[in-house]
Amino acid sequence: MARLESQLLPLGDFKPSNEWQTHVNAIFYGIKGPAIHHHFQTYVSRDYRLAHALADAFLHDIKKRGLAEDPIHVQEWGVGNGNLAARFLSRLKSSDTDQTVYPRIHYTLCDYSEEILNGVRANPNLQEHEGRYFLKPMNAETQDDFEPHSVHKIISNEIWDDLATSVLLKNDGMLYEEYLQPLLPRNISNVPPFVEQFTAKNLDALKNHPPFLEQIVWERSFQRTDITDWPYGEVILKHLNRLADEIPFPINTGAFQTLERAKHILAENNLGYTSFDYGMLSDHELNLRGRPYYKLYGGQYTSMVNFPLIAEVAQAAGFDDVQLELQHDFVGRNLSEKVLSALELVQMHPRISQMEPWDADLLMLQTLQALNASYRSPYKSKMDYPALPGTPKRQRKQIAELAKNLSATGVPDTVAYITASEVAGAAGRLKKLGYGERDLKRAFDGTNQPIAFGHMTLR
Ligand SMILES: C[S@@+](CC[C@H](N)C(=O)[O-])C[C@H]1O[C@@H](n2cnc3c(N)ncnc32)[C@H](O)[C@@H]1O
Repeated sequence: MARLESQLLPLGDFKPSNEWQTHVNAIFYGIKGPAIHHHFQTYVSRDYRLAHALADAFLHDIKKRGLAEDPIHVQEWGVGNGNLAARFLSRLKSSDTDQTVYPRIHYTLCDYSEEILNGVRANPNLQEHEGRYFLKPMNAETQDDFEPHSVHKIISNEIWDDLATSVLLKNDGMLYEEYLQPLLPRNISNVPPFVEQFTAKNLDALKNHPPFLEQIVWERSFQRTDITDWPYGEVILKHLNRLADEIPFPINTGAFQTLERAKHILAENNLGYTSFDYGMLSDHELNLRGRPYYKLYGGQYTSMVNFPLIAEVAQAAGFDDVQLELQHDFVGRNLSEKVLSALELVQMHPRISQMEPWDADLLMLQTLQALNASYRSPYKSKMDYPALPGTPKRQRKQIAELAKNLSATGVPDTVAYITASEVAGAAGRLKKLGYGERDLKRAFDGTNQPIAFGHMTLR
């Protein structure tokens, strides 16, 4: 252990988790741009079903409300590759049969990373909606140059988990806060100016180094703290008082700031702030010992979202109506069927836990192929499916062959939503791949996982 530590160079001092989290994420998004999706997919980065459900709910709300404003201002915060906006606008265009809403839409894609916005500019699916969408650099935690009461709807997917998050733990009436320190193996960080560039978030210089984000090692420690002067300190204390000792609780302070920004800019006649993210949906999950409270994806540092606390803070920030449900229930209601992602289906396979990673990749591709026999996407897209480093030659060849033969109108992503009837339609083929009859039925019963995807709307 001592030997390993001596080979690691600290990139700075111990600081509260929220400070290092936002620091490293600004570097991650600032240097990677659309390449973030080599590290993770989201429910909107290739699929369309969540975007369609959102567009349908939005159109329904506007018609019900009789919203007469022209333009109707929609903002999306933290936009990734722009696919959510593209699919939302396409669905709206086709569902708005009397064309009374789509032509009035002014959809602004807001992001703090110039690299991300450059990727969005190049998204051909968005270009079809020229005149309806606009791009704006902005930091969702701090932005204050929008006109007050000027926006009718705000949307975000998987941004709260990226924003500043403190971690608190209580023990015998005392509170402790998590501190982090980033370290790198010396062979990566031995270029003398590296630490300065990292400290200064010098994106132009950091881009020229070989990949380093994945190799950061995070040291952790908990230190005594007092939160009485924190924003919403009283709400947080009341929240913690009903929870168990010795469990780390994420306090998503950056998300609290987005609530304040949203409250400030939402028009009187607004349709709310809708946010999708993953984390703990109730006190039951918050109180599960050993549940994750952070996760790393290719160097990106994400925190689980504490939805119950966000709801309590939202009320304190002036939102009267806070609705929370499972994201799967929202999408399923839109399709009048139960849904799950292709990846969740693959995880139900009886042999998945014993498979080598490349065999799991082959199973995923074969599962997609089986589903594609009945699945039809309204959009054409070709999925890249690169083999993982270390995949043996034979499996690498099989992966390339299967990926090449995937239908362009098939399931668009490994985390795309699929319905119970699509799985039932492919049941024969799936059973040949080793799925059991009971697994296929059980797949839609929901899981008891501590971490789930949530859909929250605040008005
Ligand atoms: C996990 S990605 C999600 C992208 C997209 N919404 C999706 O679901 O595919 C997070 C996005 O939020 C952006 N982001 C992170 N922190 C931000 C901040 N403080 N202000 C604005 N954008 C931010 C990142 O640049 C990135 O585009």
